[in-house]
Amino acid sequence: METVDRKRLASLMEKEVRRFDTEHPRSRDLFERSKGSLLAGVPMPWMTEWAGPFPVFLAEAGGARFTDVDGREYVDFCLGDTGAMTGHAPERAVAAVADQAAKGITLMLPTEDAIWVGEEMARRFGLPFWQFCLTATDANRFAIRLARAISGRLKILVFNWCYHGSVDETITTLVDGKQGLRPGNVGPPVDPALTTRVVEFNDVPALEEALAHEDVACVLAEPALTNIGIVLPEPGFHEQLRTLTRAHGTYLVLDENAHHLCRARWSDARVGP
Ligand SMILES: Cc1ncc(COP(=O)(O)O)c(C=O)c1O
Repeated sequence: METVDRKRLASLMEKEVRRFDTEHPRSRDLFERSKGSLLAGVPMPWMTEWAGPFPVFLAEAGGARFTDVDGREYVDFCLGDTGAMTGHAPERAVAAVADQAAKGITLMLPTEDAIWVGEEMARRFGLPFWQFCLTATDANRFAIRLARAISGRLKILVFNWCYHGSVDETITTLVDGKQGLRPGNVGPPVDPALTTRVVEFNDVPALEEALAHEDVACVLAEPALTNIGIVLPEPGFHEQLRTLTRAHGTYLVLDENAHHLCRARWSDARVGP
């Protein structure tokens, strides 16, 4: 087997880090400044996890490209989900948002436009009732809350290494087959073993065993796992997931958010205990 020349790797890495530092002086300065007011120097903690000693600070984005504060232009392979689908700053959306902002966006009353959106979502996705929220985390929270209320059950089930935003119940991981806290996360307020069952994605027998306790309000699932690379469902997995959730009176919630116009989708509003 080929051995890794660690010394060489370390020196190549050092060279790359130095080059990154030299080529992004303004980002480096802004990162130093932001540490004075932002936790860990970033608006969201995972932004410290980019390669390099500090994140690149953005100046502007359009279409598939963005420009950083040092004037360097990039093709955006970052998979910021919404941008990946629509491009950054799509003209018509920008105009519609600006138009509405000028008419007020912080009211606590419904508008006729909201009905249009509900009707259009029902037409497109075939599901009758809709609720709006601002993040996918919230969409998941709302769906979990409803599933618990309707089923009278406490627990939810997620797949190992899932990503559903900052929903406490989902921040739990199997290590050597045992459920525990996810490493590197700030502790959730309640032991997730009380709120959550975790099984490996594509593991039908484990899913069946977990649902057989009949204490799971809903399975919250991504159609394909996206947090540990992309893990695709094996043929037939989703059919079995659907069959087993129905058999055990558990709701199935598909977190299809690949973007910040999130939607946690009730896959079948008629199914229930
Ligand atoms: C599947 C999935 N669920 C939830 C989220 C969290 O989204 P938000 O930051 O809008 O809460 C994401 C974000 O990428 C996601 O991909």
